[in-house]
Amino acid sequence: MSERDQSNGLEHLFTDTVRETMDSSVYGAWRSIRDADAVPLSFGFPYPDSFPNGELLSAAESLLDSESECALQYGGGEYADALPEVIVEQARSRGISCTTAEVHLTNGATNAIDTVCQTVLEPDDTVIVEAPTFMGALRLFRNYGANIEGYEVDDHGLDVDALADDLAAREAAGDALPKLLYTIPNFHNPTGVTLTEERRERLLELAETYDFLILEDDPYGQLRFDGTEPPPVRALDQTGRAIRANTFSKTIAPGIRTGWIIAEEPFIKQFDRINAGGEPSFTRGLIARYAEDGQLDRAINELSTGYRKRRDRMLESLAEQMPPGTTWSEPNGGFFIWVTFPEGIDAEAMLTDAIDQGVAYLPGSFFYTDDGGTRHARLSFSHVTPVKIDEGIAALADTVRAETPAIEADD
Ligand SMILES: Cc1ncc(COP(=O)(O)O)c(C=O)c1O
Repeated sequence: MSERDQSNGLEHLFTDTVRETMDSSVYGAWRSIRDADAVPLSFGFPYPDSFPNGELLSAAESLLDSESECALQYGGGEYADALPEVIVEQARSRGISCTTAEVHLTNGATNAIDTVCQTVLEPDDTVIVEAPTFMGALRLFRNYGANIEGYEVDDHGLDVDALADDLAAREAAGDALPKLLYTIPNFHNPTGVTLTEERRERLLELAETYDFLILEDDPYGQLRFDGTEPPPVRALDQTGRAIRANTFSKTIAPGIRTGWIIAEEPFIKQFDRINAGGEPSFTRGLIARYAEDGQLDRAINELSTGYRKRRDRMLESLAEQMPPGTTWSEPNGGFFIWVTFPEGIDAEAMLTDAIDQGVAYLPGSFFYTDDGGTRHARLSFSHVTPVKIDEGIAALADTVRAETPAIEADD
């Protein structure tokens, strides 16, 4: 037997990237927020009444009846095979012209992002993100050892001018250019803002000039309450640099774990190869059966009404109850409102008091790779009833008021 140092158990067998990131604390903090006995304005969960339980039950019965020999087989049957066509139709209604050969099915958007990372990222490649951005994507980019660089977001989305200046400076200095830019163009997680059409065009120009890919992640785009939708980045793309990730998590249910990627065929071929053998074909058949006869489209309309009601209630409640000095975004769709607290408040430090008062949120710092976001919080209006939203905002307002004298005393 060799005498190796095994004082750390078998950790030496983990990859370098895992060893470097294994103590990252955010995920521990998540659990305590989840268990809290407080109004959960923290997670982007759909409200439970939104789940089409009855419709999925009928679809499952019908699927098992009509495809009794193959619905549960490797590969599934005709309905599973038809799901890419459902996605092509949906994409067409959003201005994206594509064929089923440009569609790769995934186990949700998270798996879609992971698949893209696996295909294009080497350790130390640079990934540009919005700062703040979806923490699940940050975790994936870290898993691949990427160098993550954030650019600020304003009311019109990513600050493309700042990015353009920086890219020009990097090129002039001979510094590494990014491989991938990750954006959430519609009702951004966590800020709720939407990237303008002009900025979408600029991003595509930058991608062409500096030779990088754009990963457009759009789980919320169909849940629009006001205004008209700017064309998806993929719809504006003339050069094949935009890869689009999407999911049924917010329009059917997260538990069905089904999403997709739309990209140029050479990418799709690699995604198919990488993920071969892991397809949940029964779920795919179920979704295609459920989507038949316009059921999915009708559900999306109803969901938009349900989420609009919650968004409106949260905005009203914030306006009525929050103390002066607090501001917030006013999203036209999606799940989230981004709150900026008065100067001196540390949203992460305040969370324990907020939970004691009866509300949970996600501190803004969770959505940054650096020390940004201290004064911010993401509030999700998607999960609870309008009455609970009122209760949660009242508790948040009380918490902020209780913190404010402490700030004044410190001054
Ligand atoms: C921007 C963004 N991308 C991806 C996801 C995850 O999607 P999925 O549940 O399909 O993995 C979420 C939400 O949870 C999200 O906000």
